Amino acid sequence: MARGRIHLHAGVALMLAGGLAAAAQTADQAWLRYQAVVKAAAVPERVFRLGDSPLERSAAAELVRGLKGITGRGAESRNVRVNAIILGTLGEFRKQYPDWKPCEQDSHRVIHFHDDLRDPIPFYDRVPLQTLLRFNAQEFSVCRDRELGSRSIYIEAPQDGGVLYGAFALLRILASGEDLPRDGIHEMPAILIRWVDEWDNPDGSIERGYAGRSIFFEGGNVREDLAPVAEYARLLASVGINGVNVNNVNAAPQLLDAEHIKQLARIAVAMRPWGVQLALSVDVASPQKIGGLATYDPLDPAVRAWWTAKTNEIYALIPDFAGFTVKADSEGQPGPASYGRTPADAANTLAAALEPYGGVVLYRAFVYNHHADWRDPKADRARAAYEIFHPLDGKFAANVVIQIKEGPIDFQAREPVSPIFAGLEKASTAMELQITQEYTGQQRHLVYLAPMWKQVLDFDLRADGKSTPVKEIIAGKSFHRPLGGMVGVAGVGRDGWLGSPLALANLYAFGRLAWDPDLSPEAIAAEWTKQTIGTDPEVVGTVDKVLMQSWPAYVNYTGPLGMQTLTDITGSHYGPNIEASENNGWGQWHRADKDGVGMDRSISTGTGYTGQYPPEVAKLFESLATTPDELLTFFHHVPYTYKLHDGKTVIQSIYDSHYEGAEQAAELAREWATLEGRIDQKLYEDMHARLVYQAGHAIVWRDAIAQYFLKLSGIADEKGRAGHYPGRLEAEDAHLTGYKIIDVNPWEDASGGKAVSCDEPQSPKAGTDQKPLCEAKWTWIGDKGLYDIAVQYFDLQPGAAKLFLEQNGGIRLGPLGLWWNADATLPSTRPNGDNSTRHLIRGVWLNSGDVIGIRGIPDGNDRAALDYIDVTPAQHDRELMTDLPCSEGEQIKSPKDAEETWEMPVGPNLAGWAGETSAGTPIEGMLVEVFHPGDKTPIATTRTNEEGGFRFSGLAPGRYSLNASGVVESGADAIVRLDPASKAQLCLVVE
Ligand code: GCU
Repeated sequence: MARGRIHLHAGVALMLAGGLAAAAQTADQAWLRYQAVVKAAAVPERVFRLGDSPLERSAAAELVRGLKGITGRGAESRNVRVNAIILGTLGEFRKQYPDWKPCEQDSHRVIHFHDDLRDPIPFYDRVPLQTLLRFNAQEFSVCRDRELGSRSIYIEAPQDGGVLYGAFALLRILASGEDLPRDGIHEMPAILIRWVDEWDNPDGSIERGYAGRSIFFEGGNVREDLAPVAEYARLLASVGINGVNVNNVNAAPQLLDAEHIKQLARIAVAMRPWGVQLALSVDVASPQKIGGLATYDPLDPAVRAWWTAKTNEIYALIPDFAGFTVKADSEGQPGPASYGRTPADAANTLAAALEPYGGVVLYRAFVYNHHADWRDPKADRARAAYEIFHPLDGKFAANVVIQIKEGPIDFQAREPVSPIFAGLEKASTAMELQITQEYTGQQRHLVYLAPMWKQVLDFDLRADGKSTPVKEIIAGKSFHRPLGGMVGVAGVGRDGWLGSPLALANLYAFGRLAWDPDLSPEAIAAEWTKQTIGTDPEVVGTVDKVLMQSWPAYVNYTGPLGMQTLTDITGSHYGPNIEASENNGWGQWHRADKDGVGMDRSISTGTGYTGQYPPEVAKLFESLATTPDELLTFFHHVPYTYKLHDGKTVIQSIYDSHYEGAEQAAELAREWATLEGRIDQKLYEDMHARLVYQAGHAIVWRDAIAQYFLKLSGIADEKGRAGHYPGRLEAEDAHLTGYKIIDVNPWEDASGGKAVSCDEPQSPKAGTDQKPLCEAKWTWIGDKGLYDIAVQYFDLQPGAAKLFLEQNGGIRLGPLGLWWNADATLPSTRPNGDNSTRHLIRGVWLNSGDVIGIRGIPDGNDRAALDYIDVTPAQHDRELMTDLPCSEGEQIKSPKDAEETWEMPVGPNLAGWAGETSAGTPIEGMLVEVFHPGDKTPIATTRTNEEGGFRFSGLAPGRYSLNASGVVESGADAIVRLDPASKAQLCLVVE
């Protein structure tokens, strides 16, 4: 097969150092990209605004920016009034055009507030007019003048806030490559309060944030540079979000001191041009903690006076301040219970201070006892919100909104709807959900959450026997409440807003659903994809498929059948740890024992929780027969042999869903791989790496839960998978040098409960510059052939261990895994399911009797710990693969030139690697060229990367030859490094 050329030329070449300065954080990095669309709609290029308010100025500037990107043309104009996009308030239109006929109002989405005003107005109905005005100024219309047939587009709204939303709505349509519908659009938000909560601390850290440090705070103060905050507000405004609560609900009281209020006012200034108002979390003990009072009893006159004065101080500097969010008597936070007072007492004290300004109190219903007695079969955390808040219905001031987490526990992968939504008919309510993926993969896993939120929004609680879906309750419609809200805990940071590009679909979807909960998650995904990635229908179809499959996959491999997320609930909330939720006071119990699993929450034999739902829903969940399988163990304790609606036993369903979930996760990566060459290459590669990681971590979840329940129940998987892993070679069974066998905690996070850790590394041979290392070796007794080898290891912080795969004592690897750094940032400093990571090496030819080894070089706390390797037949086209070399035959003596040739039929991707054979050091910077055989001009060229790897994609089937050449130099600054005494090898594979 050797008929080509590989040249390694002697010489020196300096590596280019440095890089671009870090780019500013902008909204363009999310969905506001305004990329040129192939078939841009015919729209005017002039933008003419009738008014001069800051919001209208923002609207006009945004239109110009958007038009320029989408169509290539756009400018603001002060005099062209025909063939322009004309924007203004209704009043301004009437003034400018005396004959003005507004775009037709089709207000079918009118929100229902105050349509049952009676006299005398009950206490809970006396909403300050200011509050209503503030939150009710967002309706808009966008239309063409049909009668005149003019090309002009009008954006009109009762108030300037609506004008801004109208501009964004038009841009959304245009950026998606569509045209304004013939009848225009007329919209009004369904839900008035649409806020994101940021759990940021003054020191710049973010509770449950997975995207770097705070954009708001650093070192105890508001940051000097608030440009990212303004960009964030712009992003939020584009999907209709009108408030940001900027600090952690576990609130730092010092933010209410005079100096910090001044600083916070700067945040309000940065967000104001986008109609986004500032809100703050407050600690109800502030009067005592920073106010010098002896008490924080909400009914104490001095305490009330303190809050009034503090609130006045805030409004003096922030006139559009939106209000307070309160977490009290919850998870160690102080609260009114300390004085025998109720949440209504605390909420109303704050509400009274805010009332003159139209501000609101969002009082969280997340109040529960986290020292519950797990031995008590009647104890049940899920009951807490209803038990505490339902009796207070009617006692909350009108500008108090009760903020309710979507489920009764805590942002789990799947929970039933919280019953308290139907338990408050006189108080306004808001639904709280998490955009930041605390229990849903922490942005390392792709989980598009809109389908989950949508299920909650659509869930009909049947309050008073009538249709009362959650979305209508929080819109204020079901119980004729004046206010209502949707609040998303966002956790944005400085790392690309949410740390992972596709996670931004969740922020986008949150805003869109809060504006219009009737939108479908699919439609939202498509909107987001078109604006963010591209409008090619096949790309949109694939990205949407990946997004839509991600939540069902995640539920399947983490916590199916209503088990919630079976994670480490007292620690990271990330990897599997099944018993972490049992036998402690936190009350996230799922009560698995040797016979069965689930919490009995029925009225008849359990905790009585089902009785908190209105009767029709209570009946549904009370009975085993009617409880949907997907929530079964949330409501009932069932034997493993209990048969589900689909005829499967519970235990078999646990096995099946985990295997199915892991397969679905692998499918996400495969689907994404079809996008290569069709979307931005950097985005492609970034997400591909993430999805491959996710597929590997889904296997960790799968195996942990399957082997745990296999051991606990003693019932075999009828498909023979759980506990049986063909091709798996356990690290603890290997011939070990330096590695020590360790018990992993929890045991289910390692295959067989054990792993090996490089605790006593061997010193290297004298005279080499190798680092101390450990080795684990297995003799391959299977058939000869081409295999993929997955290495399961624990990637610990701090430190970045190096790992190598060896064959018969030398570093001889598949093309894509010469060696690798265990340098990911994953939770936990001990080996467990948080950091168990899979590295796949493809296309390794094994002969029976070969010795496969893993060499680990520990670093810091990262002890290169190994769980096992899985050796499985290669997933590539065997025929092509075996034709292609990856062998010691192709070695080149340095620094002499050498030649080798390969000719190859070609698949979609051609990849390979170059490395030194003895130490396994990759050869970086080698020039690799692909030719039509016989041609002198290459059809594609690339250079090997840091890991010695290269890749060509999208080659048409045919025969090609490859030429690799490089400059060999042993000096540290050389691009291509090869020790003069050693040999190089080049491997190829068709993927
Ligand atoms: C979760 C989360 C906490 C947070 C709490 C809350 O329990 O883990 O970090 O403080 O929710 O919503 O208050």
